[in-house]
Amino acid sequence: MAELHIVEHPVIAERLTRIRAIESGTSEFRHALHDVARLMCFEVTRNLETEPCAVTTPLIETEGCRLKRSVVLVPILRAGVGMLHGFTEILTEAAVGYVGMYRDEETLEPHSYYCKMPPGIEDAEVILIDPMLATGNSSADAADQIKREGARRIRFACLIAAPEGVEAFHKRHPDIPVYTAALDEKLNERAYIVPGLGDAGDRYFGT
Ligand code: URA
Repeated sequence: MAELHIVEHPVIAERLTRIRAIESGTSEFRHALHDVARLMCFEVTRNLETEPCAVTTPLIETEGCRLKRSVVLVPILRAGVGMLHGFTEILTEAAVGYVGMYRDEETLEPHSYYCKMPPGIEDAEVILIDPMLATGNSSADAADQIKREGARRIRFACLIAAPEGVEAFHKRHPDIPVYTAALDEKLNERAYIVPGLGDAGDRYFGT
């Protein structure tokens, strides 16, 4: 059963409102996106497996735990970079790989131009990151690529998803749980999410 998690939290909802607002400039957009990513990270990683390990406190040796597997974060270039920092602030040891995708504005088809994964991705927990799950085509293509690179445990974190995108993504990758801060209404004829936030890459990078 394909999983969709809508991460509900009052602070996330408040920051998301700032992110959506047309009057928010680059600085406010960046800071709010960073905050949301950091907050979402807790929910996205909630079911990571741990294993017991010994820890010595100033008083005694006792049992603690550590993450069972290493974590690899894979932002989809370029907008995914906007959520990377929030995740690395919590997952400080995580390795980072990149998938570069761009959308042909005529055909709306995604094209891949870059893929570089860190070693050990086969045994890692991989978090694919892209703020906008719109048609689902580019994120599904990116998931194909990281599976070809050997990734076996993948979850996908986005900021806003369109229902059409979730359906299309899960049709191709029913094994990958999707985490989003909002499930919006629909896509428009240019495949933008409505109400959405506009172009995430342009707004994050100030272009
Ligand atoms: N990519 C964006 O940046 N925004 C959308 O609404 C859809 C895809």
